[in-house]
Amino acid sequence: MPRYYDNNTDQAGELRRMVTDNREKKKAEQEKTQLPRLHTISILSGKGGVGKSNIAAGLSFALADYGKRVVLIDADLGMANLDILCGVRNAKYNIAHLIEGSRSLSEILVHFKTSERATNLNGGVSLLPGGVGLKEIADLDDIAMERLFEALSGLEELSDYLIMDAGAGIHNGVLSFAYASEITILVTTPEPTSIRDAYGVIKSLGAAAWQDPEMPASGLMLVVNMASSSREAQEVAERIRLASMQFLGNAPVYLGYVLKDNVIERSVKNCRIFYRSDPESNAGICVRNLAGDLLRLCEGADIKHVELPQERKGVRGFFSRLAKKLFEDDK
Ligand SMILES: Nc1ncnc2c1ncn2[C@@H]1O[C@H](COP(=O)(O)OP(=O)(O)OP(=O)(O)O)[C@@H](O)[C@H]1O
Ligand SMILES: [Mg+2]
Repeated sequence: MPRYYDNNTDQAGELRRMVTDNREKKKAEQEKTQLPRLHTISILSGKGGVGKSNIAAGLSFALADYGKRVVLIDADLGMANLDILCGVRNAKYNIAHLIEGSRSLSEILVHFKTSERATNLNGGVSLLPGGVGLKEIADLDDIAMERLFEALSGLEELSDYLIMDAGAGIHNGVLSFAYASEITILVTTPEPTSIRDAYGVIKSLGAAAWQDPEMPASGLMLVVNMASSSREAQEVAERIRLASMQFLGNAPVYLGYVLKDNVIERSVKNCRIFYRSDPESNAGICVRNLAGDLLRLCEGADIKHVELPQERKGVRGFFSRLAKKLFEDDK
């Protein structure tokens, strides 16, 4: 009976369509969950001693208190000191062991729990300590670099944020982090020398920063540290932004400020993270505000007129851009 067969064929076809639809839905869902989610944030400056390491550590602990899993990397390989700053005495292993391949990432990472003020207990900070007198990242040979990147690619599963203290200056090792990261935080203080050097970094990134489609100009952000008031910080940021606008035709986003606060100096002397020992200090509140804004930006909130490009998420992409930049300038 043709009707019967027709009907049967229809049903079989319908069934096949449903199975295919379901399969495609499942595949799309899998692909969605496999998309890189990790946010890479580099902290750098033109002038040294402006507070990068304290801000990197403070932001990491503040993000952890918001329930985020943060890996803090001392990428200032020549002058690493985040372990001391975080109160880690005699870290057994450091990034050098990862580079030579003698220890695994899990053996090297030093874990910190969230503080009592954490709103979500899933968070935490893991520090990848740097060593003393290591070669700059730009000076590593191809094999060492590959070994390092391969070991660090495991971070995609372990963390939500990768915060890298990338050091000071305008050499390739520092600038490459800006090219590779999803977000680059350029730290300055209100001192004229620091302002000029911050502008020097922007200028060095210059042409590429806003003309190279691969460069995340929207992810380049300013933080003014050691400000005496929010107004002073805003004025400093505006000066840098104006100069950048005038000479480069574009400017970094002003993310925010950290007030000058003696608790930082005191905490550094006592090898403690100021954000943990004095979270309600002026500097602590400022860092928490910065972390909150970063979190909102990374979650796609419409603030500060920034839209972070989705394709820059993930640790693998970060390392392939970093390697590309480091090798490119090697030629
Ligand atoms: N907001 C602040 N208020 C007061 N002092 C601060 C503040 N931020 C940093 N400092 C002081 O500046 C010193 C340098 O800070 P930090 O080590 O974080 O700078 P850095 O940019 O990482 O330096 P380097 O370029 O040498 O790596 C600290 O020891 C601390 O005394
Ligand atoms: Mg430092």
